[in-house]
Amino acid sequence: MASRADLVIHSAAQLCVVPSRSGGPQRGLRLGDLGLVSNGAIACADGVVAAVGPTEQIRADWWAPVEIDGSDHVVCPGFVDPHTHAVFAGDRAGEFEQRVQGATYLEIQASGGGIMSTVRATRGASVSQLVNQSSPRLDRMLAHGTTTAEVKTGYGLKTSDELKMLKAIRSLDLVHPIGLVPTFLGAHSVPEEFRDDAEGYVDLVVDEMMPLVVNVDEPAGSSSLARYCDVFCDEGAFTLEQSRRVLERAKEVGLGIKIHSDEFRALGGTAMAVNLGATSADHLVSTPPEEIEVLAKSDTVAVALPATPFGLGHQDYTPAKQILEAGGILALATDLNPGTAWCESIPFVIALACRYMGLSPAQALVAATLNAAYAVGLGENIGSLEVGRVADVLLLDLPDVRHLGYRFGGNPVALVVKSGKVISE
Ligand code: NIG
Ligand code: FE
Repeated sequence: MASRADLVIHSAAQLCVVPSRSGGPQRGLRLGDLGLVSNGAIACADGVVAAVGPTEQIRADWWAPVEIDGSDHVVCPGFVDPHTHAVFAGDRAGEFEQRVQGATYLEIQASGGGIMSTVRATRGASVSQLVNQSSPRLDRMLAHGTTTAEVKTGYGLKTSDELKMLKAIRSLDLVHPIGLVPTFLGAHSVPEEFRDDAEGYVDLVVDEMMPLVVNVDEPAGSSSLARYCDVFCDEGAFTLEQSRRVLERAKEVGLGIKIHSDEFRALGGTAMAVNLGATSADHLVSTPPEEIEVLAKSDTVAVALPATPFGLGHQDYTPAKQILEAGGILALATDLNPGTAWCESIPFVIALACRYMGLSPAQALVAATLNAAYAVGLGENIGSLEVGRVADVLLLDLPDVRHLGYRFGGNPVALVVKSGKVISE
């Protein structure tokens, strides 16, 4: 007799299980194993994947009050976006106009615009204004298939405003279907008040902000507002030594660590973060070959953000081939932010990664699901349709998976399932 599930999706032209590799990410040139089942089906019960396999077998074993016909569609895991700055106030459309007329990102920043312009707007917004402005962005991310996203602070740069951003992220996580992973990025930029005293600002981040972020006075870190700490280690941001201070302190207070490194200039941050045990190193556009080797031999996930060079009109992208050839763990993310990449769409990021990073659609899909889950410490729970994982599932209006990345500019996502529940059709 068939068992009861809550939801069955059947008859999919292709179902991509995206299997983990003996419980780990897909590393190096082994990236791209989709675990394809043609004419596939999935049964979800109690929010998790109960069974996956050929339609005939799944339908013989399972029935559900909601059964969806996936004919002529692809079924895959929900996208995980492991690097976003999705919470902010205002916009920087004026700077975009300046940039397309020739001004550079760093020039605009040096003249008081850039991150500081979003900081001014964010400082002026209340928690509920931040929630109201950010929630439609999360809606569009969800519509494009993102079921879990990391979100960073970094537009407060003052203790009260950084905590305000963390509270906004927590509120959004409670009300929005997308699962959010909060990251403290107090060291995103040196704020105006500290223009001539970057060290003093780093002191503030490590001595005052960090203990409040993790709520040191509460028992056993139970109420930490953040799971990770990140730092922008680059020209125009923080030096290698300043970045090291931030990440070492973060480890002491029990936060996982991440780094923005080599977006513009290589300062040694990638190898430093790997040696400190970072969960991910992100951007990696100008990373020197010796640091790629160090990164690729480690368990630190290399997160590429191709919407950022695209958004800036730059020609250089993360050297995915070298990372994969050296055996690294590669993931993809949007970097959604108002300055360099207002991009809410993982399918568009996949299209860019195929063209500018030389990934196949299958490799890009694994990089945006299973490997991206590892970049936020959730590699054992999400990012794959293996039995027992959270049932975050997408139905793509594509006849086969190679159409992902091949087609771009539209939205291939026909249906989103989050924790076993149909969210949108
Ligand atoms: O990832 N690199 C640092 N932060 C963002 C840009 C943030 C902004 O310009 O507001 C990035 O590109
Ligand atoms: Fe970023």
